[in-house]
Amino acid sequence: MRAIHALHGFIGSGKTTLARRLETQLGALRFTPDEWMTTLYGADPPADEYPILLDRVRSLMHAQWTRAVTLGVPVILDEGLWTRVSRDELRAQAAALGVPLTLHVLPFDPATARERIAARNEEAGAHFVAPTTFELFLPRFEPLTPDEEPLQHVIRS
Ligand SMILES: Nc1ncnc2c1ncn2[C@@H]1O[C@H](COP(=O)(O)OP(=O)(O)OP(=O)(O)O)[C@@H](O)[C@H]1O
Ligand SMILES: [Mg+2]
Repeated sequence: MRAIHALHGFIGSGKTTLARRLETQLGALRFTPDEWMTTLYGADPPADEYPILLDRVRSLMHAQWTRAVTLGVPVILDEGLWTRVSRDELRAQAAALGVPLTLHVLPFDPATARERIAARNEEAGAHFVAPTTFELFLPRFEPLTPDEEPLQHVIRS
């Protein structure tokens, strides 16, 4: 069935954990940019190059997921959609493709997320996020606003 499932949550909110579960439940194709970044550019690419490298990955992923949904394969977009602008952009893309969008909203709970990231950072091979990165990005997170609720199907977990 044609479907776009997107995740909305801050660092460490449990997006990739949920995305892996949905991937099996829904028989969907999962797109997790962090995995592509790590495979292509290593666990810790230079900070000044990071945005351009991520843009490349996102551009490749975009071509693949739009083709997949067009072919009828459900997709899971494992990005945080931190900003209203990024959500507006995805909603516009889904509308242009004529594919229903479901937004899976993770709880916004920085204290819990900090603890989980600290624990995950200890795991060998796990995606690493420095505490300073977490704090730097925290003020940039824009939670879903009430007026956005009716603009797609929303599932809270
Ligand atoms: N519901 C949960 N209960 C307890 N621990 C969880 C839960 N969901 C995720 N975790 C753990 O918290 C850590 C962060 O989860 P996860 O990697 O899924 O977050 P994320 O949102 O993808 O993070 P990032 O933004 O860095 O990609 C992991 O170690 C994961 O095992
Ligand atoms: Mg993740």
